[in-house]
Amino acid sequence: MQSTEKMIWRREFETGIAEIDLQHRTLVKMFNRVNSELRNDSGRAVWENVTHELLGYALFHFWTEEDLAVQYGYDQEKCADASAHFDEHRSFAETINDIRRRFRAGERIAKSELIDFLRDWLASHIVDSDQWLVAFILEKQRRAAEGVADSSATPQRSVVSRIGCE
Ligand SMILES: [Fe+2]
Repeated sequence: MQSTEKMIWRREFETGIAEIDLQHRTLVKMFNRVNSELRNDSGRAVWENVTHELLGYALFHFWTEEDLAVQYGYDQEKCADASAHFDEHRSFAETINDIRRRFRAGERIAKSELIDFLRDWLASHIVDSDQWLVAFILEKQRRAAEGVADSSATPQRSVVSRIGCE
């Protein structure tokens, strides 16, 4: 896929939790804006703005997800999957910060480095990691609604046990 191509919202991006879906849609729109802004002007001021905006919104979004996750018991103390998931958030922020450090030091960075990273990261994180998180939350909600104790649900088929949270 060319780094100039727009990212189109796909059905498989939908998680089923409205707040998360709305924020993911904003991230995809932001990706498309960054892509076109850097195409028109790749000066230092544009790099400053787009990476600042991306990082700010991504951190807000990660906080929303992690806060929701922990409310449902999907936390690093209990779930191997949560550690890996939150590490992906940290590594996104580190990659953007690294790019910011490099262009501030005078390095010329290819636009495709940022765009390809964003496209791959967003698509794989939303389609894979976030789907597991949301499946976990929905399963917890289902159990609460049915009054099922965690330990009495069929663990071999449960998403909760599949991602290492019980
Ligand atoms: Fe996430």
